[in-house]
Amino acid sequence: MHKNFINTENWSKAEINQLLIHANQLKNNPVNSSLLNKSIALLFLNPSMRTRTSFEVGIQQMGGMAVILQPGKDAWGIEFEDGVVMDGDSEEHIKEVAAVLSTYVDAIAIRAFPKFVDWEIDKQDLVIRAFAKYASVPIINMETIVHPCQELALMMTIKNHLGTVKNKKFLMTWTYHPRPLNTAVANSGLSITSKFGMDVTLLCPNEDYVLDSKYIELAQKNCEEQGASFSISHDINSAYKDADFVYAKSWGALPFYGDVEAEWNQRRKYHHFMVDQHKMSLTNNAKFSHCLPLRRNIKATDAVMDADYCVAIEEAENRLHTQKAMLMSLFGQSIGEQS
Ligand code: CP
Repeated sequence: MHKNFINTENWSKAEINQLLIHANQLKNNPVNSSLLNKSIALLFLNPSMRTRTSFEVGIQQMGGMAVILQPGKDAWGIEFEDGVVMDGDSEEHIKEVAAVLSTYVDAIAIRAFPKFVDWEIDKQDLVIRAFAKYASVPIINMETIVHPCQELALMMTIKNHLGTVKNKKFLMTWTYHPRPLNTAVANSGLSITSKFGMDVTLLCPNEDYVLDSKYIELAQKNCEEQGASFSISHDINSAYKDADFVYAKSWGALPFYGDVEAEWNQRRKYHHFMVDQHKMSLTNNAKFSHCLPLRRNIKATDAVMDADYCVAIEEAENRLHTQKAMLMSLFGQSIGEQS
């Protein structure tokens, strides 16, 4: 049994498959008492709509209680560095926060986006690692530099539509956005689809937009182990050709991390990566999805978002079912044990 859900790297394909089977059962049978007398703290250092709502409702549907905290807003700001003189904005240290919360609640979930200053620091995922170090209850990642909860929902959606996913073509396409965004969903999308043996293509404008080598190498390794292919493309037409599932996401170019102006000078040339009907017509009748939130007619056209093949709403719904299955697993409960 896993103690934490910080990323899916150490979760086997079989374990995740089991979660997805549970999630489909929970979709048909949503209310149970698996979390009766259990409390989970949900800490948001960044905004959320889907993650907050799906966790809060899901915990309630299983008889538990969610405690929402926004450190720096409705809760004290937290210092994460060791040995510092705390004469800045933070009112308390992670050591006390994690220890105190561990006496109140049965799990702690955290959303902590990168700071977008230095990728070498952000890529260490220090906030969630500090919680894992100092808390004595399970830690759940609600998006840091990866978004494992989104991975589960994405994979449930893909499997429910494609059935057998092995060697089906998954296209992860970069899209334009006015700001440089987190790479978490893109990192996660490559990780989970490669783990399930899909033929994965990463489409992005040029080599500056290729994701961190850790996630590229992980996807390559997964694909190799599964007898699947992994490729990086900068050519829109060939990348879309024969795709079975198209997933869009925008992110900032890592070589310009922390330099918004220099990154903008690159990104502004690539509006044409927006997903539109012509691009989708090149595919093998692919489904389209996005983790949401999505700016219409920036990342994807109205026509794509309103098409029957767009399954983004279903993926968002699947956040609810998959997170409930993951929580039951962390607390050692299988679907058969729910009352
Ligand atoms: N996809 C997702 O995590 O949505 P929120 O940012 O609204 O939680």
